[in-house]
Amino acid sequence: MYKIAFIGFDTVAKGLAEILIEKKSLLKEIYDFDFKVIAISDPIVGMIYNPLGISLEKALYLCKEGKKLDEELGEPGWDSLKVVKESEADIILEATPTNLETGEPGITHIKEALKAGKHVATTNKGPIALFYKELVDLSKEKGVELRFEGTVLSGTPTLNLALHDLAGIEIVEIRGIVNGTTNFILTEMEKGKTYEEALREAQRLGYAEAKPDADVEGFDALAKIVILSNVLLGGNLSPGDVERRGITELTLDDIERAKGEGKRWKLIAKAKKEGGRVEASVSPEPVSKEDFLYHIMGVINAVQFKTDILREVTIVGPGAGGREAGYALLTDMLDIHRTLKGRN
Ligand code: HSE
Repeated sequence: MYKIAFIGFDTVAKGLAEILIEKKSLLKEIYDFDFKVIAISDPIVGMIYNPLGISLEKALYLCKEGKKLDEELGEPGWDSLKVVKESEADIILEATPTNLETGEPGITHIKEALKAGKHVATTNKGPIALFYKELVDLSKEKGVELRFEGTVLSGTPTLNLALHDLAGIEIVEIRGIVNGTTNFILTEMEKGKTYEEALREAQRLGYAEAKPDADVEGFDALAKIVILSNVLLGGNLSPGDVERRGITELTLDDIERAKGEGKRWKLIAKAKKEGGRVEASVSPEPVSKEDFLYHIMGVINAVQFKTDILREVTIVGPGAGGREAGYALLTDMLDIHRTLKGRN
């Protein structure tokens, strides 16, 4: 039985908690995956530890009621670092807010967990975009597993598709729409809304943050293309190496002009391997009907891999949302489980 610890218990972790409640018996029956949650650590909802197991139903209920997870559910006095270093957890789920400049606090949680011999699954883009190679080396040195499917396209299988199902193939180019908020805004602008109106709608629906820069200035897409480049193309890019433009300068006039030419503006993230070098960029581009990205509307994301054998392979699906990203953590845990079983 796996002992799981949640570090960060906001939308994504709660999305996973719901899925774990719904699928607990199926996971055991079909995948032989049995678990108990022994720690939840979040500065807002509370920090508790209980090696006997924490009821996720009760934890979600308390959160909904705006109450702190208290002694009822576990032992207080634990914090995230103590959980990753000293708890009995086998798998750490790191889902704290992302920071694309320092990677903190996620990077410290992940490093300390790996050093302590714990497996890690994370949806946190900052640490993977900034420190992928270092973290992979550390996980190998410690003989533990590190997974991060949810850092790109939430639970829509993108990294694992390429790493597992396209094993043996060479990916030479990656191109896609990897940010749902900006694609939603551009879709709304096509319907006639101004940028400001479309942004407000995105905020009202919970896609865009009150401070929307990470999405609209292209930083989120930048982190994702850096991760795709480094993990799948063998690149060694830092966020600063990638040319980035967001969608804030696009006006309704630009949208209308493109429409007149049978085109649509899309925020395109792309990366290419050429002569051993990997180059990537994030920038708005007008795309024509013949381009598959023309047809990707709203918050949906899409990524296309150009390969040496299958030509183009495309994956389309949700790129955001609590349950959608929470599901990525589940697929990561199942993948860790499969890997460990394969070793025995
Ligand atoms: N804010 C992102 C998006 C989801 O709109 O696609 C998290 O990466």
